[in-house]
Amino acid sequence: MSLTIKTFSDKDNLSKAAADLFAACAEKAIVANGRFLITLSGGGTPQGLFNLLGQPPLASSLPWAQTHVFWGDERLVPPDAAGSNYRQAWDAFLQHVPIPAANIHRAKGELPPDEAAADYARQLATVAQNAHSYPTFDLCIMGMGGDGHTASLFPGAIPAAETADPVMAVTAVYQDRPANRITLTPMVFNDAHHVVFLATGESKAEALTAVIQGPSAPEKWPAQRIRPRNGELTWLVDEKAASLLSEQ
Ligand code: 6PG
Repeated sequence: MSLTIKTFSDKDNLSKAAADLFAACAEKAIVANGRFLITLSGGGTPQGLFNLLGQPPLASSLPWAQTHVFWGDERLVPPDAAGSNYRQAWDAFLQHVPIPAANIHRAKGELPPDEAAADYARQLATVAQNAHSYPTFDLCIMGMGGDGHTASLFPGAIPAAETADPVMAVTAVYQDRPANRITLTPMVFNDAHHVVFLATGESKAEALTAVIQGPSAPEKWPAQRIRPRNGELTWLVDEKAASLLSEQ
């Protein structure tokens, strides 16, 4: 695994860098495999990136016809609910780009947890290579909570399903967000070619420092569970989030 940390003065510059990285990953994936497989996160941090993807020039210049969109996690609410990660991405960019509907693989938040997880696992398998149960994603865009959670992998004892299955149902309270969720597990993220975390603001500083520079404590800081086996790990952070990192 190779680790890169890039610090930006503000969210706008960070979002532009994330969009450049998205475009570069897309080009590389299309050349290598003829398609671009991605996972998105929810939360506020990727909103600037999503907005850029939905506007010129990227709304028309990216290889949308060959892009397959999944989500790293989804809240179990209907797809038109304000808390839906699918809806956030749809509103910001998916509705504005020429991506085939069949390439949008949303987790069905309207279903009961076990059914939503089973359905999502089936969708993953439809794009998996070599009879695997999940694909090797080209790019996973992740966020991180102030408590160190990422996707819907929360602090605490690691559930058995997290190491056994590519998708699991989770219940966790964080801020005022929907508590019932489904999430991809580290086995999927850690198989990806490139995992990119976006983190901004002072509220992320403690977790960012613990995750990157602290001792190994994956139960306390779930973002530490994400370590692509053969891929790249990149953190795009702003100065506030990076304020407690020590020079290394
Ligand atoms: C979700 C997420 C989650 C998110 C973090 C950070 O669905 O809630 O995917 O893991 O990325 O909570 O959220 P913010 O970007 O809003 O801080």
